[in-house]
Amino acid sequence: MSKPKILVARAVFPEIIARLEQHFEVESNQSDETWSKAQLTERLKGKDGAFTTGGDRIDGEVLAACPGLKICANMAVGYNNFDIDAMTAAGVLATNAPDVLTETTADFGFALLMATARRVTESEHYLRAGKWSKWSYDMFAGSDIHGATLGILGMGRIGQGIAKRGAHGFGMKVIYHNRSRLDASLEVECKARYVGKEELLKAADHLVLVLPYSPASHHTIGAAELAMMKPTATLINIARGGIVDDAALAAALKDKRISAAGLDVFEGEPKVHPDLLTVPNVVLTPHIASATIPTRLAMASLAADNLIAFFGGKQPLTPLNPGVLAIK
Ligand code: GLV
Repeated sequence: MSKPKILVARAVFPEIIARLEQHFEVESNQSDETWSKAQLTERLKGKDGAFTTGGDRIDGEVLAACPGLKICANMAVGYNNFDIDAMTAAGVLATNAPDVLTETTADFGFALLMATARRVTESEHYLRAGKWSKWSYDMFAGSDIHGATLGILGMGRIGQGIAKRGAHGFGMKVIYHNRSRLDASLEVECKARYVGKEELLKAADHLVLVLPYSPASHHTIGAAELAMMKPTATLINIARGGIVDDAALAAALKDKRISAAGLDVFEGEPKVHPDLLTVPNVVLTPHIASATIPTRLAMASLAADNLIAFFGGKQPLTPLNPGVLAIK
């Protein structure tokens, strides 16, 4: 019997490709060429499955051109690159890669918070530029993290990881807002208090965004929300580009309407709003929150496991539209 054909849309660990090759006829993009949507669609034609990453858009247009496609396994927890409704309508299973990246991503959220509040990269650039000639009492004075109020918008697994680090490690007062409130036992574990969005914006010394992107969360933080924040506050976005209005944020940073920001994700990335590149009070990283080798390997393994289970007639581990399986 011939093996199912799959496309691996981006370069991944060679050991993952080798494992996939035991089960599938694999076409892979190990040279990591940047494919347009049209190029991705061309490669997907005739494939039974796809191993995708967060930048590979799968929507109704792609699906219409690739009627043989049965599953797309995303090597990311976020899946706003998938049009889930269109996939469900086309009978295509979507899977993501949750859990395996939670702690690594929460670590990074905290690293970005600390770097931003304590002006780590700004001061390093100053030193590297040879500008450090003497110590002074207020040089690169930042904001305290210990004992401060940590606001978290989006209290899923990663948000909870950040809350625990803040509350237990740094004695922070943690407040959060989410679509639904956590169970009381989880609130106790995270030492977190549920508040309305407006209170969150007004009370947080450090506000971390960890909510998923959807059209409903587009520009959740724009000029009006930034205006509600304390002028001393920091804003951290490790969620998705588009949740923050980057132009409004750059203007707020320039005018010191908030103190600083740390951004790992951007609207239209890998492009970055040019004004963000010129303001000093922002720490910018290229979407690396889950980037440790063990975690990236675990994410890739989970995506591969989903493909192998699906084509082996077993239950995929992390389906997003499991209803599709019922009608198969
Ligand atoms: C990374 O952004 C992910 O969604 O896994």
